Amino acid sequence: MPEKFSKNAARNIYYGGSLFFILLFLALTYQTTQALPQRDHRDQLTEAVARGKEIWEENNCIGCHTLMGEGAYFAPELANVFDRRGGEQAFTAFLKAWMAAQPLDVPGRRKMPQFNLSEQQVEDLAEFLKWTSKIDDNNWPPNIEG
Ligand code: HEC
Repeated sequence: MPEKFSKNAARNIYYGGSLFFILLFLALTYQTTQALPQRDHRDQLTEAVARGKEIWEENNCIGCHTLMGEGAYFAPELANVFDRRGGEQAFTAFLKAWMAAQPLDVPGRRKMPQFNLSEQQVEDLAEFLKWTSKIDDNNWPPNIEG
């Protein structure tokens, strides 16, 4: 009803709507800052995890792999490689053997380069991948395979 829709009503909708959504935005921002520390378990961020992340970045692992879905689609997802390849008992040993064995010479299969990392560097990488696997990312990716 155009005659009922006065300038006043328009102004009220404009200011009221803006205020409502600004408050909603602030409330959701606050809720996110409260929820994030539990989801990313940053209290377990050790020196080794930080070093592992640096090695991950320096060697551009993300140039072929994805981590929690982000990255390149040439090679398997690695946010769940910890669970896929041995978990608490065997993952570090798996990663050492894996990194040392590259490049695998299997015909018809994509190759991963040899990075010549030290034992300490691979252990740090394992810590980083373990820490990443425990981030609460709503169970992404939806299965354990890459
Ligand atoms: C040039 C591309 C490339 C880069 C860079 C690369 N990878 Fe890979 N990676 C691969 C490919 C391809 C495979 C799968 C090989 C296969 O299955 O034979 C793989 C597999 C893996 C696997 C085993 C995954 C599984 O499910 O068993 C791990 C662990 C891994 N890469 C770690 C790393 C790390 C850590 C880095 C960085 C230091 C890295 N990759 C950098 C190409 C790459």
